[in-house]
Parts: sequence; C-alpha cells; structure tokens
Amino acid sequence: MTSPQRAPGGFPVVGIIGGGQLARMCAAPAAELAITLSVLAEAPDAAAAQVIPSAPVGDHDDVAAVLAFARQCDVVTFDHEHVPANVLDALVATGVPLHPTPEALRFAQDKLAMRERLTEIGVACPAWARARTPADVDAFAAQVGWPIVAKTPRGGYDGKGVRVIDSAAEVDDWLALVAEQEGTEGLLSDGILVEEKVDFVRELAVLIARSPSNQAAAWPVVETVQTDSICTEVLAPAPDLDPSLAAVATEAGLRIAEKLGVTGVFAVEMFEVRDVQTGAPAYVVNELAMRPHNSGHWSMDGAVTGQFEQHLRAVLDLPLGAPTPREPFTVMANVLGRDYPELYPAYRHIMARDPELKVHLYGKGVRPGRKIGHVNVSGADLAQLRERASHAADYLAGVITE
Ligand SMILES: Nc1ncnc2c1ncn2[C@@H]1O[C@H](COP(=O)(O)OP(=O)(O)O)[C@@H](O)[C@H]1O
Ligand SMILES: [Mg+2]
Repeated sequence: MTSPQRAPGGFPVVGIIGGGQLARMCAAPAAELAITLSVLAEAPDAAAAQVIPSAPVGDHDDVAAVLAFARQCDVVTFDHEHVPANVLDALVATGVPLHPTPEALRFAQDKLAMRERLTEIGVACPAWARARTPADVDAFAAQVGWPIVAKTPRGGYDGKGVRVIDSAAEVDDWLALVAEQEGTEGLLSDGILVEEKVDFVRELAVLIARSPSNQAAAWPVVETVQTDSICTEVLAPAPDLDPSLAAVATEAGLRIAEKLGVTGVFAVEMFEVRDVQTGAPAYVVNELAMRPHNSGHWSMDGAVTGQFEQHLRAVLDLPLGAPTPREPFTVMANVLGRDYPELYPAYRHIMARDPELKVHLYGKGVRPGRKIGHVNVSGADLAQLRERASHAADYLAGVITE
C-alpha cells in the first residue's frame, strides 16, 4: 500500500473507512486545512476515491485490509456505520484513535441497543418492544394498536428494513421476508424492533459535533422531509419551531452525545409530536447516526462551519467552528436518480436560472431512487427557496425539462 502524502508542516492524515459521498464531501474542507485524507474505498471508482488520491480498495469487513489501512493514519473515522465489531476491536488494539469509538458506535449500528440505551437515560422514544416471534408482535400491537412499525435492528438505511404492519396476518410475511434477507439465526436470537406508529406533525433532526475533549457544538434544529422513507428535503432551521421545543431537542441531542460518548458529527432523527395531555409541542427520538448526515448537508453553504469541516475538527480534537447560520433559511433538496444518466448538461440550465444555487454531485452512477447529489439555496423567503431548490433537483434528475 503506498502511503498517503502528507503536507509539510506537521499536518495529520485522517483515515475514512468507506468511500461514499460523506467521505467525498470531507475532501474540500480537508484540502483547505492541509489535512490529508485517506479512504478505504469499496472500488477504485467509489465516490470518494475519485477525488482523494490515497484511496486503497478494501472491504470494511476484512480485518487485515482495515488494519493495513489504519496504520497509515493518525486518526480513523467512518463514512458509514457498517464496520463489524470484530474489526472495530482489532482497530482499537492498533492504538490508532477511532472516532466514534466502538462503544458509542454500537448504538447507531443496532436500533434495539439504541432504544434500550435511550430508555435507560430517560430520552423520549416511541413505545417499543423487542419481538422474536409473531406472538410477541401481536402482544405489542394489542398494547399500542395497529398499525405498528417493524424494523430490522441492523443494516437498514433509506427505509430499507422499515415496514408498517397493519395486521397480525402480515407479521408472518414480514418475518419470512426478513429471515430471507438477513438469515434467520441473528434474527431469531436478537429479535426485531417493533414500535408504535407515531402520529407525528413533522420530522426534525438535531445535528451535533462533539470532540474527545468534550467540546460540543449544535447547529439549529432542522425539519427533514421524507418521501417514501427517503430524505428529499431539509429546511434549516425548522420553520415556526416552538423555541422551547428547539431548546429541549437540542439539549437532548447534547445529552445523548455526552452519555453515549459520541465523537465527531452526530445526528438525532426526531419526530415532532403533540403531548397527548397538554397539546404542547414535544419530540420523540427516531434514530441516531454517528457520522455526518444528510440532515446537515445544508450547512456546507448555509452555516459558518459546514458539517464536513466540523467532523474533521472534531475527530482531530481541534477547537470546533461556529455552527451559526449565514442566512435566515437554507433549503437543501436531494437529487435522486431517475432513468436519465446524463447530469452535466443540466448545469447550463440550472446555473443560468439561479446564480445563487449551490450544486453538489457525488460522482455516482445514476440508478432510480439513488441519492446522487443535492443542492442548497439560502435566503429569507422560505417558500421561494423551496421552489428554487426542488426545481434544480428535479431538473438535474430529469423529472422536468424546463
Ligand atoms: N415509529 C414510527 N412511526 C412513524 N413513522 C416512522 C416510525 N419509524 C420510522 N418511520 C418513518 O420511516 C422513516 C425511516 O425510518 P428509520 O428508522 O429512520 O429508518 P432508516 O434507518 O432507513 O432511516 C422515518 O424517517 C419515518 O418517516
Ligand atoms: Mg432514518
């Protein structure tokens, strides 16, 4: 393996396991700060490998490949949460600092472990249970009422592994499907997560950065809009959010980060609900992500410090940057692939139509429904910003042609 090339002047090498768009988007702030990145990539043409010269190809499950990679780095962090426990343990044994640590990461890797821990530290969650058999699911539904939401504890993203179940009859189908996808052993021993179907007002996210020396910084609470369980739009800050809810949601995020010992950028996905007794705005936590997150892409252009720069500062234990927004609102719209593979020709139209638009594409091949990029636009008129962002995202995707 050739060594990553370090800048003269004592600068470190940050290793990222996984070469997806999150690793790729660290490249610009790393270059600005003369920090060298090295990426353990899935393939030579992975999104991050296209822009980071040191990008050895290796599997995140392969202990030898991961260790050889980590030995070239001063600190190691992640593009995703899929590195298995045995590999994480071997990494810790090398003595290279890992952020987040395996102890923290466990709660983002396993939704059952996450629910247990959050319940222990008194953070509001939807009613939930661990179910190993169809009878367990029925018993839970008898308490909270149908429909319920069933989730595979590990490996899900963008709604894969999440299913709304309307009746007892569907439980067997779901369990059979999960068993087929995951293999029955892990499933039957650990169970699946079942939750009440939350009647939420909207979805929110709290994004935080925490450093090993326990400095933390929180961006404003945002609203995330999901279409078919995939995030399509983020409004930053969440419009008309009750100030006391903003405060308690942020406090919950900071408390979770500290209690779970999270380091780096960390997202808490939440549902905004109404208290059944008082009608007051409240939150329950949906899930955790221990890495830069889609709900923070707005910050690349809309905040004094973007989440990718902040993640680098946090994992290097440098002082954190200000998370302050630059404008009253920033709207982020995701570009989801369609059938149309040609993206570059769309630049001429969207850039001419909106000179304030910021475009971020990930160098990924177009597949229907795949996240291939996003756009940001900032200003004061939220309705107009949403129109501009969604127009550009739709035009890039080929949904509209004018
Ligand atoms: N308990 C629930 N009640 C209502 N909707 C839910 C519930 N859990 C998940 N969802 C919906 O499904 C989406 C994906 O679920 P999530 O647990 O975040 O899975 P993923 O890991 O795929 O992001 C959420 O953003 C939300 O829209
Ligand atoms: Mg989610």
